[in-house]
Amino acid sequence: MTVSRRALVAGAGAAALGAALSLRRGFADGGIKEYRLTAKPAVVNLTGDQYPNTAVWSYDGSVPGPEIRLRQGDPVRIVVGNNLGEDTTVHWHGIRLPNRMDGVPGLTQKPIHSGESFAYEFTPPDAGTFWYHPHADTLQQLGRGLAGALIVEERDPVAVDRELLWFIEDWRLDESGRIAPGFGNRMEAAMSGRIGNTVTINGRVPGRVVVKAGERVRLRVVNAALARIVAVGFEGHRPIVVACDGQPCDPHPLEAGRLVLGPAMRADLILDMGGTPGRGYPVFDDFYPDLPYKLVELEYDAGKPTREHPPDAPPRLPANPLPEPDLAAAERHEIALQGGMMGGMMGGMGMMGRGGASWAMNGMSVTGDGQPDMPALLTLRKDQSCVLALRNETAWWHPMHLHGHSFRVVSRNGKPTARREWLDTVLVPPRESAEIAFVADNPGNWMFHCHVTDHQEAGMMAVLRVT
Ligand code: C2O
Ligand code: CU
Repeated sequence: MTVSRRALVAGAGAAALGAALSLRRGFADGGIKEYRLTAKPAVVNLTGDQYPNTAVWSYDGSVPGPEIRLRQGDPVRIVVGNNLGEDTTVHWHGIRLPNRMDGVPGLTQKPIHSGESFAYEFTPPDAGTFWYHPHADTLQQLGRGLAGALIVEERDPVAVDRELLWFIEDWRLDESGRIAPGFGNRMEAAMSGRIGNTVTINGRVPGRVVVKAGERVRLRVVNAALARIVAVGFEGHRPIVVACDGQPCDPHPLEAGRLVLGPAMRADLILDMGGTPGRGYPVFDDFYPDLPYKLVELEYDAGKPTREHPPDAPPRLPANPLPEPDLAAAERHEIALQGGMMGGMMGGMGMMGRGGASWAMNGMSVTGDGQPDMPALLTLRKDQSCVLALRNETAWWHPMHLHGHSFRVVSRNGKPTARREWLDTVLVPPRESAEIAFVADNPGNWMFHCHVTDHQEAGMMAVLRVT
């Protein structure tokens, strides 16, 4: 409580400064593209002009933060300023970068104190759809709005008529439009985490998206929610998945007609607008069976179609330069995901951090956001191929995210997967298992944690050390 009150007071001053500090993009010495981002309080409208505004924490005054577009292989410097009134960092989720640029406080860098800044420098090796968010006081900072899209463009543009980004966030608002207090509620943390009551796309409760008959759209979808899982269905349309978590895959239709994204997961879809001009088509989310809702509507412009015939098969995105794990030579490690309500006993678990653990990995709970002296759950030799066999022993879903690497999902529940897709966050359903494989080619201390932020902060977090 004291922290947030202090932050809000500090914020009043910072907000006045806001206009002068907005996103500056330029070229620093040596032709490196440079961006500036400032974390600070702001007031925005999430729910529509006839509803009250919401005080949020923002990058540069907007929610989500500015869409950062980089080019694959081009170095960038992003200077992050902090006017929050508490420590922060930025994690560039899914980008394979040097460990000291990974944004985990204590573990990979000193936190950015309020009033200070930190220059992140990296060269994105992979094109794709990524995002950025704090890794300090994450539950509150992400939950109050600190997040943005990070798009790395292919060297050669992909043939589509238009690109759309849907950056999905989930808020818990009270009737006056304020963000409800109670972050880190212990009961909730031991269950599904803080699921909100207001879903926004690109910072607004969406009404409709105007499209043109015949056009081919590349739709990038990011689930930036704290805890909400979505299962998005497109009535009257047949989207083709061309990338998951930024990494290109064999183009394929949605499984069971739904795009299922846990927190932090992304997908790139090719959406051919085959509907009737003048008509509307709902896009819905029915992940929670008793709470289906219309997310947004595709509204067809009444004009002439863009083209007479649908375009050819959707493009296959160029592969990223990922090291292929050698399964025959891979080292195998079992990781049990444990705890939570209805998950059996929590007694006898090791513990580290602020306390309040409800979750564990292999009997060890590390709580909070990252600490300097975190013991490694596993130590991997550089360039070793590894298989992590994840076994979810709990009654809850866990989107497990590995920093600094992408991995192939090679099996689920003992059966090989059809596409062996590359991901950086794998959603493991209750009581199920998944095996992931990767080459530990990036030296450093890498977080491996559940991206339901309450679960992470309540113990489902570990460090993999690559030496
Ligand atoms: Cu987006 Cu450590 O995570
Ligand atoms: Cu979890």
